[in-house]
Amino acid sequence: MEATSEAPSQTVLDAAPPARGCAGQATCRYLYASRLAPRQPVTVVGALLTQARERNRQLGLTGALLFDGEHFVQLLEGPGEVVDALARRIEADARHAGVAVFLHAADARPPLFDGWSGGWAEPEALQDFLALERSDTTRLLDAFKKLVEGSDMQ
Ligand SMILES: Cc1cc2nc3c(=O)[nH]c(=O)nc-3n(C[C@H](O)[C@H](O)[C@H](O)COP(=O)(O)O)c2cc1C
Repeated sequence: MEATSEAPSQTVLDAAPPARGCAGQATCRYLYASRLAPRQPVTVVGALLTQARERNRQLGLTGALLFDGEHFVQLLEGPGEVVDALARRIEADARHAGVAVFLHAADARPPLFDGWSGGWAEPEALQDFLALERSDTTRLLDAFKKLVEGSDMQ
């Protein structure tokens, strides 16, 4: 009997959408928005920024977290496994709610930020950002960078 040299046939698994996240990837970007959870005092945000700043420095993550008194928007950039693990903790954190993930994917382009910072954004500017078309990730990231540059960062 002759051996066949056909390529393996496509299975339904080949057509499955890729799992979200960056396992095994050298660089990853994670961008999301959320709201301060009901009954959480705004004062938790100060503690959160201090905690995140320290942790992100240790983990070698870059990016920024903005808060306008009600909404959060955060970009995290770094090694895939590190970003994935933190994304899971953030999504399970009861201090915020309604986490909407805009981007969580490997990205070979250089990081947008050279460190991590947190700060306050004008509600109107943050609303304009949230109203942007989410499928154009390059524009979304450009707009996020501008939003951070125009905000009061620490
Ligand atoms: C809006 C928001 C943003 C956060 N951002 C970060 C962050 O950038 N880095 C970080 O280490 N923790 C961040 N946290 C806290 C994490 O959810 C989590 O509490 C922290 O990683 C400690 O997790 P552990 O107690 O399981 O070690 C954030 C939490 C919220 C609610």
